[in-house]
Amino acid sequence: MSEQITLDKHIDRILIDPTAIQERIAELGQEISKDYHGQELVIVCILKGAFLFTSDLCRKITLPQKLDFMAVSSYGHSTQSSGIVKIEKDLSESIEGKHVLIVEDIIDSGLTMSYLVKILGDRKPASIKICVLCHKPSNQQQGIKIDYCGFKLEDEFVVGYGLDFRGYLRNLPYIGVVKPEYAE
Ligand code: IMP
Ligand code: MG
Repeated sequence: MSEQITLDKHIDRILIDPTAIQERIAELGQEISKDYHGQELVIVCILKGAFLFTSDLCRKITLPQKLDFMAVSSYGHSTQSSGIVKIEKDLSESIEGKHVLIVEDIIDSGLTMSYLVKILGDRKPASIKICVLCHKPSNQQQGIKIDYCGFKLEDEFVVGYGLDFRGYLRNLPYIGVVKPEYAE
């Protein structure tokens, strides 16, 4: 049975519907499970944006795994990263000697992720890989290697499935583009 989608009034159009999101996550889960075969993972969910993505993805990863959470905030303009990242909540366990998979909602400029990779890398994990739901390649200046990417997007502000606009719209079941009159 197909899901009935009601378009939120802030949304201009749907980019990725719930079925496409789940299909892609199943593929990513398979790929990750294969790549880390025989190993144990620490999945690091970057709050808040990656909470839904992580919850669906971890159930598609058939490996022994631990889940931990980190919350970071980047200051500045509402729809652009400033590059100044503050840790709001840190991991609850050491990652030393562990295989770490960072799960993030979106990479735009890459500033947030390059900071995360640096601080987690300093904690001597066995390895660090990056899994993002969305990537806007046109904006990335940081030369980050993205190991697993759900969707490549154009440079426009998106919301839904965890991604927010000023804290709202994370609950939308699809990924959509905010109407230009709101996104600024
Ligand atoms: P970056 O540091 O520029 O790569 O930005 C990354 C962070 O900005 C993400 O973790 C998101 O929280 C936020 N962000 C960037 N682009 C979008 C978007 O299109 N929608 C919602 N949040 C976004
Ligand atoms: Mg985020």
